[in-house]
Amino acid sequence: MKLSTGRWVSGDDFFDREKELELLEAGVRDGNHMVMTGQRRIGKTSVLHELGRRLERRGWVFLFADVEADRSEEDLIASLAKAIHPVTPIRTRLARDMGRRLRELVGRVEEVSAHRFAVRFRAGLDSGNWRRHGEELIAHCAEHDHGALIVIDEVPIFLARLFRQENGGRRVEEFLSWLRATFQEIDGRDLALIVSGSIGLAPLVERLGISDRINYLDPIRLGPWNREVSVRCFEELTRSYGLSTDDGVGQAVYEHLGIGIPQHVQSFFARLRNYVRMHDRSRIALDDVAEVYHTELLGPSGQNDLAHYEARLRDGLGDEHRYGIAMEILAEAAVQGIFSADARRQLEERHSKLVKDASRQVADAVAVLVHDGYLEQGLDGHRFASNLLRDWWKTRFRHNYRPLVEESRDSVRD
Ligand SMILES: Nc1ncnc2c1ncn2[C@@H]1O[C@H](COP(=O)(O)OP(=O)(O)O)[C@@H](O)[C@H]1O
Ligand SMILES: [Mg+2]
Repeated sequence: MKLSTGRWVSGDDFFDREKELELLEAGVRDGNHMVMTGQRRIGKTSVLHELGRRLERRGWVFLFADVEADRSEEDLIASLAKAIHPVTPIRTRLARDMGRRLRELVGRVEEVSAHRFAVRFRAGLDSGNWRRHGEELIAHCAEHDHGALIVIDEVPIFLARLFRQENGGRRVEEFLSWLRATFQEIDGRDLALIVSGSIGLAPLVERLGISDRINYLDPIRLGPWNREVSVRCFEELTRSYGLSTDDGVGQAVYEHLGIGIPQHVQSFFARLRNYVRMHDRSRIALDDVAEVYHTELLGPSGQNDLAHYEARLRDGLGDEHRYGIAMEILAEAAVQGIFSADARRQLEERHSKLVKDASRQVADAVAVLVHDGYLEQGLDGHRFASNLLRDWWKTRFRHNYRPLVEESRDSVRD
C-alpha cells in the first residue's frame, strides 16, 4: 500500500470500505440513483473510483465527472461530455447524432483529446440548449449495451456557486428539476447516477424549500473508519514502508485523532515517517505520536491544510454573514470544547442586532456544520467530532477569541 495524502486512491492503495462498496454496487445494479455525502477527505471520491473499477471489471461503463470548477449548467454538461469521451462506443454514437453545428465545432471526435473535446462541445452550449444536449448525452449512456454508472462529484459546490449568481435560487431549482426529470425519464434501464460531495447539499435544498428535487436519490452517508480499521490501515502503511513501531502506536494515533478520517490517518503516518527518518530511525516510538501531533499536525504545515477546510466552508455556506456565524460557532466549540445552548442564545442575540433572521441563520450554519461532519450534537450542545479539527481551530483562535458564554457574564456585570 502506497502512502497518499492528496488525491483519491484506488486499487492497491485503497483500504477497506468493503461494506460500503457492496452496498453501492448492489444499488447501482438495481438501477438506483444515489447521493453520497460525507465530510471532506473521508474518501468519497476514492470509493466511487474503486466502485467504478470493480464495475468496469464486470463490463460496465464508468463515467466520472468532477464539477468542482464548473461555473454554469453548460460547464457541467461539458464535463459530462468529457467523461464520455474515453468510452469509444458511446462517443461514436454521440458523434454520429450530434447535429451539424456541434459537429463542426468539435471536429473529428476520435482525434481530439477529452479535454479539447469538452472545450469545443462547451462552445456549442448556451442557456437555451444545454438541457437538450445534456439529455442526449445521458440518453446515449443509457443505450449502452452493458450497464453504465455516471458519477457527478462535487455537486454541492457547483450548486452553491450557481446559487450565488444572478437568479441563483431559481437556477439551482431548475437544474435539479432537470436532472431528476432526465434520469426518471430513462428509469428501468441499466443506467445509474451517483451524485456526491461534502458541503451541505441537503441544507441547501432545505433552505430553498426544494428537498423534493433530490428525494429520488437514495442517500448514502460515508462515515469515518472505526478504530479497528484505522489502526489496521496505519499498521499496513508502517509495514509497506518497512518501519517498526512500539506497541500501541496505531492506537495512540487513533486516540489523538479521535475519529478515523482516512486522510488524517494517512497524513499522521506521513508525518511520523518523516519524523523518524529525520532522527535516523526506522522505529516509531510511542512518545513520537504526541510530539508529531503537536509540532507537525498542528504546526505550520498542518495549519496549511486548515486553510482548505475554511475555503470549502465559505463556498458551502454561500453567504458571508452565515459564514461569519459558522466561524464563531467553530471558535466557541473549539476553545470552550462545546457550543452550548447558552452560547447559541448569545450568538443569536448578538446577530439579531445586525440581521432580521439571526436565529434562522444560526440554525442554517449549525445544520451545515453538522451535515458536513464538523460538529456532533450531544445532550448539552454541539462538539467537534474530530480532535484534530478541534485542535486546529483552537490553535487558530486561542488568542483572539472571547467565549460567547463568558461574554454574557460580562454583560450582566455591566
Ligand atoms: N479507502 C481509502 N484507503 C486509503 N486511503 C484513503 C481511502 N479513502 C480516502 N483515503 C485518504 O483520503 C484522501 C482523500 O480521499 P478522497 O477520496 O479524495 O476524499 P473525499 O473525496 O471524501 O474528499 C486520500 O488521498 C487518501 O489519503
Ligand atoms: Mg472528493
